[in-house]
Amino acid sequence: MGYDKSIGTILVPIVVLLVSVNYMPCKAQLCTTFYDDTCPSALATIRDSVSSAVSSNRRMAALLIRLHFHDCFVQGCDASILLEGTGSEKASPANDGVLGYETVDDIKAAVESVCPGVVSCADILAVAARDASVEVGGPSWEVKLGRRDSTGSNASQAVTDLPRGNNNLTELIASFDRKGLSVRDMVALSGSHTIGKARCVRFRDRIYANNSNIDATFAANLRRNCPQTAPNGDGNLEPLDLQTPNKFDNNYFRNLVASKGLLTSDQVLFNGDSTDSIVTEYVDNPSLFDCDFAKAMVNMGDIEPLTGTSGIIRTLCSTAN
Ligand code: HEM
Ligand SMILES: *[C@@H]1O[C@H](CO)[C@@H](O)[C@H](O)[C@H]1NC(C)=O
Ligand SMILES: *[C@@H]1O[C@H](CO)[C@@H](O)[C@H](O)[C@H]1NC(C)=O
Ligand SMILES: *[C@@H]1O[C@H](CO)[C@@H](O)[C@H](O)[C@H]1NC(C)=O
Repeated sequence: MGYDKSIGTILVPIVVLLVSVNYMPCKAQLCTTFYDDTCPSALATIRDSVSSAVSSNRRMAALLIRLHFHDCFVQGCDASILLEGTGSEKASPANDGVLGYETVDDIKAAVESVCPGVVSCADILAVAARDASVEVGGPSWEVKLGRRDSTGSNASQAVTDLPRGNNNLTELIASFDRKGLSVRDMVALSGSHTIGKARCVRFRDRIYANNSNIDATFAANLRRNCPQTAPNGDGNLEPLDLQTPNKFDNNYFRNLVASKGLLTSDQVLFNGDSTDSIVTEYVDNPSLFDCDFAKAMVNMGDIEPLTGTSGIIRTLCSTAN
């Protein structure tokens, strides 16, 4: 009898300690194990959905990564971009051309079918971005979880908080700094333009300007499918990375060194200024780029999350329950 009791006096505190050490970090901040007990199949379900979506449309990898970025930069990583309605972020001109919403709805439906009401749309965006990277040959990373979803969004904040394709380097650095991200994070994250496409309306000024740092042949080829006078051809698409548009690699940075960045905001990263050396590092060392990209995605995913009892878990990502 005395034997049982003494085992108990030793074991109970140890178990309590282990349990609290395991769960404490999830209360106020994000942690990778957040759904381990409440929805153990969440991550596999998201991965399978992303995998089949990217298999049927390679561009979907780009769309999912961009959605997470546009979510995090406006009001934090809270799935605010997914809400529909007048005056929503989604309806803001800053989010014109953002796609992939239906795929997020499909992923959410798959997750709801295994654990209803548990996994936030904001976490789905974060995990889907990682899985999308892996699908197209990019790096993987541990995604911190426990974000909750906003109940509202604001179109004008998307305009003020998102960087633009015609921004100069000073503006890009300031835009990322306002979100707590470093210059190195900014350059690495811009490397996601190794996949996906942009519309003529976003790069027209650059290819018709007479004073931009742009390869002449590259510009001439682009002009053929992007007429000078808007709105002609506004929606015509070109790959952000001409060399390997569907593969996550460091060719984006090689293009910049060759003056073949598609957007002004791409080329300013290698234009005789302070970030040239980072671009060169990524040209010389693809695995350094992968590693910095993964770290920067984790940093971006940390922007102002709603945790604990703030926010909600949406049932449908497009509406606040
Ligand atoms: C550095 C500041 C950035 C600027 C100014 C910028 C701007 C743009 C623009 C103008 C487009 C073309 C959109 C269109 O024509 O519809 C685009 C596409 C894209 N952006 Fe960025 N971006 C930036 C950073 C990022 C970051 C941080 C990510 C993700 C981590 C990202 C991911 C993407 C992807 C994947 C696409 C292709 C989407 C598609 O295929 O439709 N961008 N970006
Ligand atoms: C949206 O955000 C802007 C700028 O932060 C603010 O002035 C405006 O009142 C907000 N609109 C709504 C409807 O909350
Ligand atoms: C960058 O753009 C801002 C705002 O348009 C402008 O004030 C600034 O002079 C520009 N900086 C450079 C280095 O061109
Ligand atoms: C660039 O130069 C060409 C030919 O000299 C001219 O037709 C065009 O209008 C110029 N473009 C700009 C943006 O100044």
